[in-house]
Amino acid sequence: MIVTIGNTKGGVGKTTLAVNLAIARALSGRDVWLIDGDRQGTAQMAISIRADAGHLPGIACATYPDGPTLRSQVQQQSAKFDDIIIDAGGRDSTALRAALVLSDVLLVPFQPRSYDVWALNDIAGLVDEARSVRDGLRAVAILICADPGEGSTDNTEAAAAVADIPQFEYLPVPIRRRKAFANAAGQGLSVLEIKPGDKKASDELKALISALF
Ligand SMILES: Nc1ncnc2c1ncn2[C@@H]1O[C@H](COP(=O)(O)OP(=O)(O)O)[C@@H](O)[C@H]1O
Ligand SMILES: [Mg+2]
Repeated sequence: MIVTIGNTKGGVGKTTLAVNLAIARALSGRDVWLIDGDRQGTAQMAISIRADAGHLPGIACATYPDGPTLRSQVQQQSAKFDDIIIDAGGRDSTALRAALVLSDVLLVPFQPRSYDVWALNDIAGLVDEARSVRDGLRAVAILICADPGEGSTDNTEAAAAVADIPQFEYLPVPIRRRKAFANAAGQGLSVLEIKPGDKKASDELKALISALF
């Protein structure tokens, strides 16, 4: 399955999610290819740190910030992988547009803040464009960096905001604001691997994977 993690807004947690999803799928025995579509190369950097530290499984990772290159490479190589996870950068880039035409699922993480909700409308236009050239792009939005406190109204408000944007389906599997996510990604690890572990973070990642794949 080809999954693009995309949002035209930066700093929402796309790379953190992409790295965690790629590693988690590899840990369950899938052949995974992580593509860094952002010229900042943060996902590639996390995977290099992982490789240098000798953490297994290793993750195949390539950086293609240029849309036409991303498109031709994925078309040529996709049969070799079970899952391809594309981290599609922060702007309305050619890589993001190319990725949308290739993907089965677009996963849009957004934080429970107004600017993030507005950005969803922006990406909705790109989803329309991709759907005008091919059928079957599933577009899902999930909450990221949600308030870890119980009884937070983040989830209900987020679900309501997404309900106003018909291009998206809201998946009620939020990733909350937890140090484990930031710490793990910086070491090239998923939250499933860090020591000491964070069970809540691990459970959130697992719930997202069950809902997606
Ligand atoms: N669930 C989370 N909890 C806490 N911090 C997070 C979480 N997800 C991302 N972050 C932090 O937020 C910042 C932006 O994340 P990043 O994945 O680089 O976003 P993007 O790729 O969208 O620019 C980073 O410092 C990252 O460690
Ligand atoms: Mg990033």
